[in-house]
Amino acid sequence: MRSALLYSAVLGLAAAAPKAMPQDIDVDYIESIPTPTTGLGPAVEQVSATPSYDAAAAASDAAQEISTAPIYTPTPSSASRRGLRRSPLAKRTDCGPEPDGHGPSPGSDTSDTGFLSSSILANYANSAVAPAGYSLASGFQNLQGSLSEIGYIGLYTFSQYDPSLCSAKCNSVSACLGFNIYFERDPSITPAAACPNPAPFTNVKCTLYGYPVAAGAATNMGQWRGPTDANGQAFHVVITGSNGYNKNPCPTPPQLTNFTGPSAQLPGAINAPNDPTTGKNTYLGMKLYNGGPFDPSQCSAACQAQTAYDARHPASDGTYMPCNFFNAYILLKNGIPQGTYCSFYSRTWDASYATNTGYTSGSTQYSVVDSFTYALTTPDPGHI
Ligand SMILES: *[C@@H]1O[C@H](CO)[C@@H](O)[C@H](O)[C@H]1NC(C)=O
Repeated sequence: MRSALLYSAVLGLAAAAPKAMPQDIDVDYIESIPTPTTGLGPAVEQVSATPSYDAAAAASDAAQEISTAPIYTPTPSSASRRGLRRSPLAKRTDCGPEPDGHGPSPGSDTSDTGFLSSSILANYANSAVAPAGYSLASGFQNLQGSLSEIGYIGLYTFSQYDPSLCSAKCNSVSACLGFNIYFERDPSITPAAACPNPAPFTNVKCTLYGYPVAAGAATNMGQWRGPTDANGQAFHVVITGSNGYNKNPCPTPPQLTNFTGPSAQLPGAINAPNDPTTGKNTYLGMKLYNGGPFDPSQCSAACQAQTAYDARHPASDGTYMPCNFFNAYILLKNGIPQGTYCSFYSRTWDASYATNTGYTSGSTQYSVVDSFTYALTTPDPGHI
């Protein structure tokens, strides 16, 4: 049931006869695009990672892949993670002190089960107040997992459980759309053969994300660290008091070179008919980028690269289908962000066409949020 426009379109031939609404979200295609399995949160030993995202590198990758994976084709493109720089992990010494650990004690029982059942820690999370400009993500309060979601951009460790400290960090990064704050039971010294399963301490961690945070992605329940002690027990890193907050309203994405926009936020994705004047399809295809934060500049780079490619490979009559307009939004699957979804058009469509708010496919709900459009300021006529 793919709405694939045929590969021949790459050669500038008129796109194959489209369905009435060719831009329907192609669920099979979306499912075939690999979601990153690493880099969805910090390494457990880490206590800080400076937010960094190189939008220019991500846009350059988006433009470069057009020659091998044009926007017409349903070929899954590998997620570019070049835009994200990874902070190296500071070297640790066996049985040497681990960093930070200034968070509150869970009480008299500091075992992993004592930590998870601590009313002291639960009270912090349950009584926390959403910072100004933020809302608690639905159901994301006092969970026992930290977030494992695309768009991870940075980590801080605090001595207090105070969401406003984390929101201040998120406010300082334009790509940050939400954050997770949680208690982590960590070893006070680096577990090793000479010091297995050492005494714990508590870190209050704050992770920043370039997509809205979703309770359904709070799936990192911790891990074991180091060798087992005489009782066969290794150190158990566990998490509690995990709360997630999102910027509310979602910030408007930046203006982009060569484009007019962004539009005001739209209620859904553009669902355009054929051009009422020419009767022709105006939809070129889509891309989904899931290697970094929500970033419409990847769409603009792909749009312009596609037009440039097609202008070099026109149909025999010298025409090609130009990319003059795109819709960028966040696609959610059961509430969990899947990436920056870009759909591309040869002409502009106004907000009255933004009617596609999502689909239900079996038990899976796909929804469209944070939808914006951009129009090429000087439209390309599509002929040489
Ligand atoms: C803007 O358009 C010019 C002319 O097509 C192009 O060379 C340039 O790369 C574009 N800039 C960006 C940032 O997309």
